[in-house]
Amino acid sequence: MKWKRTHTCGELSANNIDENVVLMGWVASRRDHGGIIFIDLRDRWGLTQINIRPESSVYEEAKKLRNEWVVAFKGIVESRPDGMTNANLATGEIEVMATELEVLNAALTPPFNIVGDNVASEDLRLKYRYLDLRRQEMQQNLVMRHKVAQLARNYFSENDFLEIETPCLMKSTPEGARDFLVPSRLSRGKFYALPQSPQTYKQLLMIAGFDRYFQIVRCFRDEDLRADRQPEFTQIDVEMSFIHEEDVFAIVEGLMERILRETLDIEIPRPFSRLSYDEAMRTYGTDRPDRRFDLPLVDVSGIVKSSGYGIFVQAVASGKTVAGICAPGCASYSRKQQDDLAAWARQRGAAGLIIVKVGAGTLEGSVAKYFDEQQAAAMIAAFQAREGDLLLLCADERDLMRQVLAELRGEMAKRLGLIDDQKISLTWIVDFPLFEWSQERNRYVALHHPFTSPVAEDVEKMTTDPGTVRARAYDLVLNGLEIAGGSIRISRQDVQQKMFQALKISPQEAEQKFGFLLEALSYGAPPHGGIAFGFDRLIMILAGCQSIRDVIAFPKTASATSLMDGAPSEVDAEQLIELGLQMKERSLL
Ligand code: AMO
Repeated sequence: MKWKRTHTCGELSANNIDENVVLMGWVASRRDHGGIIFIDLRDRWGLTQINIRPESSVYEEAKKLRNEWVVAFKGIVESRPDGMTNANLATGEIEVMATELEVLNAALTPPFNIVGDNVASEDLRLKYRYLDLRRQEMQQNLVMRHKVAQLARNYFSENDFLEIETPCLMKSTPEGARDFLVPSRLSRGKFYALPQSPQTYKQLLMIAGFDRYFQIVRCFRDEDLRADRQPEFTQIDVEMSFIHEEDVFAIVEGLMERILRETLDIEIPRPFSRLSYDEAMRTYGTDRPDRRFDLPLVDVSGIVKSSGYGIFVQAVASGKTVAGICAPGCASYSRKQQDDLAAWARQRGAAGLIIVKVGAGTLEGSVAKYFDEQQAAAMIAAFQAREGDLLLLCADERDLMRQVLAELRGEMAKRLGLIDDQKISLTWIVDFPLFEWSQERNRYVALHHPFTSPVAEDVEKMTTDPGTVRARAYDLVLNGLEIAGGSIRISRQDVQQKMFQALKISPQEAEQKFGFLLEALSYGAPPHGGIAFGFDRLIMILAGCQSIRDVIAFPKTASATSLMDGAPSEVDAEQLIELGLQMKERSLL
């Protein structure tokens, strides 16, 4: 590199006219116009137009430049001729008349366009992630990520929180998702686990007296991936001592208020709305409802059980629930559209979808005849339906019905254009149960995690009637995504032991896996609680992306691989020997 850069490619304006400058960057485009070569030179700050005239000494060399070559230009800033300015570009008033050129590096033709619309498959983008990251959209996403991380750091620091790092190599503990394991060389046959979250560490920090902790921290979970899940993801992790739920809400709301103000210029009303878990499940079929639109689930079991419609009557008699949503203005749906919707619901496990049109104060269609006038009126009133609406009804086990209708609600909102992209809807979900029944494990499991405190009056019921115990837990839902979750913790050793007992973890196993925590709880643990944000999810929403992969510099695919460097990969036999490990053929397992 012969020269020192004087400006970035996003910086020059009419104020710099006649200045001698040196710019460096990538060739975003080269156009030849009437003998003049125009180069758009790009760096992370923007684009600057370089003008190379035929009489310039670098003209011949400039002809050879191709997209994505790395170059340095020396030149003089001039204003663009009348009619040639570009108001959409920060540097659109000027161009740089090149006097000298140095090619810093040539480049192969990239496998997809860096500038303009990107139609490359995600696999190709991930394989050449360093090229994908050159695209303006990806650069903006990572700038947003940086901004929010700094905002969060400043906010917590101003509020007297300390940022403390916790280990990445820790003890494997049961519950939660599957651990990623790391074999130990020095303690053969033993394994570390990568943290699913720093939950136990932050509680130990409270016991250590570091009231008000936060950390922007990587977490690892070996679970099935979706658009909003990665095997390694980032949390903004928070813990406080001597507090109640309201203290956590106040801190979190203050942070969200600041983030939304400074990134999207949105003033969010406080306090955020709150919804009990039960009400969320009843009204939306999910504990992370998107409340930018209505379309509530309505349970009509009480009405349909006395109708003449066998399917409904039998369903209610056998303990199932009949519920549905009212799709506004959809009575005009064709037979085929209705059949497609029913097939859509069946694909998701429902027995089917019973579809009823709403007429002028009546029900219409093949099912309508099974409802007398009073029952029809009751249905219409229950859904607050209007003429021209369509009732989409499910008759299934309650949980399945909720699951299907929750998805259907989102699907219909999308189809009907009911979701305002500009809207931000934040809701606290509160009053969770402490446990949920796991069919798979044939026992209760913690709905959040086993360190969540029960409501004080319910402690006795933890082992006698676990299904009714209320938790001091809360989630924050943003536009239908759970962006944060937390709780007030168990701070008494006897209650923590009771929790393990309720989870059918034997005292020996509890001692072996969590002995350190149980012991710490007996050395003066303060009442404490906290929360953790899914940082990637938050950024995804702020950046208007559909996948968290778009806000992570180097994400994994849905099968947890890295297409760029090929991780995970085989290792040398030597490495395995050192670790005392031996690979077995899959067929022998
Ligand atoms: P939880 O398991 O709810 O709580 O995680 C907190 C938040 O992290 C995000 N999240 C994820 N984001 C991307 N990929 C994933 N695989 C993934 N899993 C979770 C979600 C979630 O709300 N220690 C507790 C917090 C506490 O109690 O303070 C915990 O980890 O947005």
